[in-house]
Amino acid sequence: MRLEGKVAVISGSASGMGRAGANLFAKEGAKVVILDINQEQGEIVVEEIKRNGGEAQFYKADLLDLNALKHVMNIIDEQYGRIDVLWNHVGTPGPSGVENVEEKDYDFAMGLNLKSGFFTTKYALQSMRKAGGGSIIFTSSVSGLMASPYSVVYSAAKGGVVNLVRSLAVHLSKDKIRVNGICPGITETPMMEQFLTRSEDDDLDKNMQYILSRYPLGRFARADDIANAALFLASEESGFISGVNLPVDGGYTA
Ligand SMILES: NC(=O)c1ccc[n+]([C@@H]2O[C@H](COP(=O)([O-])OP(=O)(O)OC[C@H]3O[C@@H](n4cnc5c(N)ncnc54)[C@H](O)[C@@H]3O)[C@@H](O)[C@H]2O)c1
Repeated sequence: MRLEGKVAVISGSASGMGRAGANLFAKEGAKVVILDINQEQGEIVVEEIKRNGGEAQFYKADLLDLNALKHVMNIIDEQYGRIDVLWNHVGTPGPSGVENVEEKDYDFAMGLNLKSGFFTTKYALQSMRKAGGGSIIFTSSVSGLMASPYSVVYSAAKGGVVNLVRSLAVHLSKDKIRVNGICPGITETPMMEQFLTRSEDDDLDKNMQYILSRYPLGRFARADDIANAALFLASEESGFISGVNLPVDGGYTA
């Protein structure tokens, strides 16, 4: 098993790619911590992991509330005594466009996509040092690597994540903590529809066909595609990889 005995914390793992990752990490022997605002859904994920013989626990946290987040990370430290893998996955499409964007919407998107991962990392460091090092993964996006004209604020936040990954990778290397990013293309999760209805004409089918035509492998990502990339970055198989932002996009950014 590739994560035998490791403690893995995944934010935003009650749904979508994080949920797929939580299941996969548990299958590979990790003790998985589901960190999410949605308690009902989070507990469903814990149950599905346990049903399959894995180990998982849910912790409720609004990742925009830094005091609550710090408190929960302290409880996780008391409970497990270490964190080996932290996947900062939570995010939001945020507002589209420019003219209609209000300050609170801008702050919300920056907060959930960029600030929350920085502070979750800060609050996890003590536990990762206790583990003697580990792997931190951030979920960015193809929108962090290239222009995203309908998701300007989102693109700025995810571009921030891309460079946060690089800087943290160097900064934390002395602690034997590797830091890498994943840049998914459009991925079939509950969030997908929000990304596909952001252009001015807002026709889901038309937008879907247009964007799909630009994906060389002829399909969108599935949650498991992203979970598999995260497993690789979490495991020792990527032990000499740090500071990388890996597109998982069927060739889209190429
Ligand atoms: N789906 C896509 O097409 C796509 C593409 C590129 C990148 N991404 C990125 O992937 C990540 C999540 O995507 P997904 O498709 O798995 O989403 P999803 O909607 O399936 O899951 C998001 C999870 O985040 C949780 N969450 C939301 N607000 C929270 C908060 N304030 N505190 C704690 N938890 C909160 C939700 O409860 C949910 O469980 C985001 O960072 C997103 O930007 C998604």
